[in-house]
Amino acid sequence: MTDALGVGIIGCGNISTHYLRLGSMFAGFEVRACADLNSDAAKARAAEFDLRAETVDGLLTAPDIDIVINLTVPDAHAAVSRDILSAGKHVYSEKPMALSLTDGRALQGLAAERNLRLGCAPDTFLGGAHQLARRELDAGRVGTIATGTCHVMSHGMEHWHPNPDFFFKPGGGPILDVGPYYVALLIHLIGPVRRVAALSLTASPTRTITSKPRYGETIQVETPTTIHALLDFHSGATITLSVSWDVWAHGHANVELYGTDGSLFLPDPNFFGGTVRASGKGSEIADVEDWDHPFGVSNEAHANGPQANYRAAGLADMVAAIQSGREHRCSLERSLHAIDVLLSILESGKTGAFVDLTTTCTRPELLGPEEAQTLLRPA
Ligand SMILES: NC(=O)c1ccc[n+]([C@@H]2O[C@H](COP(=O)([O-])OP(=O)(O)OC[C@H]3O[C@@H](n4cnc5c(N)ncnc54)[C@H](O)[C@@H]3O)[C@@H](O)[C@H]2O)c1
Repeated sequence: MTDALGVGIIGCGNISTHYLRLGSMFAGFEVRACADLNSDAAKARAAEFDLRAETVDGLLTAPDIDIVINLTVPDAHAAVSRDILSAGKHVYSEKPMALSLTDGRALQGLAAERNLRLGCAPDTFLGGAHQLARRELDAGRVGTIATGTCHVMSHGMEHWHPNPDFFFKPGGGPILDVGPYYVALLIHLIGPVRRVAALSLTASPTRTITSKPRYGETIQVETPTTIHALLDFHSGATITLSVSWDVWAHGHANVELYGTDGSLFLPDPNFFGGTVRASGKGSEIADVEDWDHPFGVSNEAHANGPQANYRAAGLADMVAAIQSGREHRCSLERSLHAIDVLLSILESGKTGAFVDLTTTCTRPELLGPEEAQTLLRPA
């Protein structure tokens, strides 16, 4: 046995393959076992990645497991994370960490009481592109961010995910599914949010699955599929966030931030890489020179071309933080604030009123190229 922390996975669905494939790139931990309510899913994943298949209880009591990655569906996240913490193990959860602030606060209390870490995705803001944007912002390149726009709009998930139901149920929808990437990025760059307002709608009451194996089945839509939100930050910045699964095509950029001395143009925070562009006062928009960040290097082929994918970087950062006693970047405090933002946006969509947030957080530290390199296994 090595000094590496032992990691187990609960939830052996679609995203577990990404964690298992990419997890081996990182230093400080090794994935040893997996479990799922569906034991066949756990056995299949274990065979595919040469792991031990466990029952959920078996994984929670396994002495060689220090951290459990919670990759269950959103409405199981809080209960599964509670069980993991109660079993005396650290948690790294997929987003959203919980579907209510009450559940999130209960996890916060439990983690504090047991002196355990809880980390939560998304970790894409740790990517080379978004860290470069942070460096530029901190260096004063565009002055203070005053305003900006974020757009993440498409026509849903029922054409690709084999079990797309959860995307259209409470706990899913674009605000809780893709919103976390944008809110985590904005917290990373601008800090905490003070209040939000939103308009929301559901364009179609049903969705027809066109992926396999459930082609032709109907899903009842139970959560808004379009939300236009206003985010008022403690810093004074006001940002609009439009998320939708009712749009076939659009021409909006993912993230544009307008500062007192210039503008920053960021790639999709659902990914780790991409080109950051900037302009000064009245100057042309130009690419920001890349800085050889290890989490910006393309390592996967995708339909739109090569892409950087370092999913599990947030877990690796949490492992390093446990070992050195520092704070982890995808922290419980920030994830709780992100849930507060997202749930308050949904609430405002229902009532039409501004919602004041009851949580806050700090910005995470910049993750520069040298420190990011230490999170990777030596070649
Ligand atoms: N699929 C993606 O591309 C993607 C990307 C980013 C994040 N995520 C997030 O990852 C999570 C999982 O997504 P997915 O696409 O892998 O879903 P999935 O439906 O493919 O897999 C979820 C798995 O969790 C298991 N499960 C559910 N409840 C459980 C419980 N209480 N105990 C043990 N196992 C349980 C299910 O049996 C299933 O095998 C979601 O929160 C999703 O938002 C998914």
